[in-house]
Amino acid sequence: MTEAILLVGGKGTRLRPLTANTPKPMVPAAGVPFLTHQLARARAAGVEHIVLATSYLAEVFEPYFGDGSSMGLHLEYVTEREPLGTGGAIRNVASHLHSAPGDPVLIFNGDILTGLDIRALVDTHTASGADVSLHLTRVEDPRAFGLVPTDADGRVTAFLEKPQTPEEIVTDQINAGAYVFNRSVIDAIPTGRPVSVERETFPGLLEAGAHLQGMVDSTYWLDLGTPQAFVRGSADLVLGHAPSPAVPGRCGDRLVLEGAEIASDAKLTGGTVVGSGASVGAGARVHGSTVLDGATIEPGAQIHDSLIGAGARVGARTVLTDAVIGDGAQVGADNELKSGIRVWCDARIPSRAIRFSSDT
Ligand code: GTP
Repeated sequence: MTEAILLVGGKGTRLRPLTANTPKPMVPAAGVPFLTHQLARARAAGVEHIVLATSYLAEVFEPYFGDGSSMGLHLEYVTEREPLGTGGAIRNVASHLHSAPGDPVLIFNGDILTGLDIRALVDTHTASGADVSLHLTRVEDPRAFGLVPTDADGRVTAFLEKPQTPEEIVTDQINAGAYVFNRSVIDAIPTGRPVSVERETFPGLLEAGAHLQGMVDSTYWLDLGTPQAFVRGSADLVLGHAPSPAVPGRCGDRLVLEGAEIASDAKLTGGTVVGSGASVGAGARVHGSTVLDGATIEPGAQIHDSLIGAGARVGARTVLTDAVIGDGAQVGADNELKSGIRVWCDARIPSRAIRFSSDT
């Protein structure tokens, strides 16, 4: 049985303030910590033993997931004293693996939502005889990504930095954050210092003549590293566009967790999730958004593609579009916040303090 390593130790800086109190994999998506979806998908693919490589806010994982037995998993946790980067984190958990040197080991970034056929990645790896295999996905605009071209047999030919000119866009394939490593390759990563698997291990292996195989799989794929992507991913899980066995309820336009209070004329659409103990007041409209546990949406508020942190309050008639409200923040009535605005945890915004229009 293939075992897996999950990389969950990053600081998640791009997701602040959501990651101020909570590591990125523990931020709820569709009602459960995002990591739950990844664990459930791995389990569904037959993986039983998973080692979590933790660092930032490491102490919160084990109290929640325990030994994993409630999910049919055997989970272990390994915490870095200093963050070791993606490659260093993989090497740091090696002693917890049971695999023999030639066995395949799955490795997942902890912030990717995907419909990847995990078994197919392992099968591709075994069939091709590769040292490392990578899930590659195609993106419309590759300019923001490092590119991974492959030859006719799917063998990786280069790891290219973010392209600066149109000529440098030689492929639309990017590293999708799921790998299979032969156990022996993991053991060969240097110990005791930070190593980036993307910037050091992969290019180094290629240089040394190792066989790196790419598997292009164009199913659902989203990197939940930014607030916009996180909110989108959660809504896609609720809508059933992104596959997960761990969505707590039936997929549909909305997901209301037990203990949430929704006014009878409030409208929840577009994959909105409302957490336990949260309330949505009369006439409020919430579309494509995540309202975390204990948050309050007052009457008449209009919320689009936004995330409202745990225990936060959004005042009456306030309009939010593409906004993140940190845990415990209080936004007064009649504000208008949009365009990627991030309100920090516990901040206070008075009523009628911020508008984007000149209305009276
Ligand atoms: P940003 O700070 O917003 O870039 O996010 P991040 O810290 O999560 O970094 P990135 O998205 O590049 O990380 C990819 C994956 O590797 C994520 O699942 C991280 O949790 C994980 N990761 C990154 N750095 C480390 C590390 O030093 N140790 C461990 N254990 N995991 C890491």
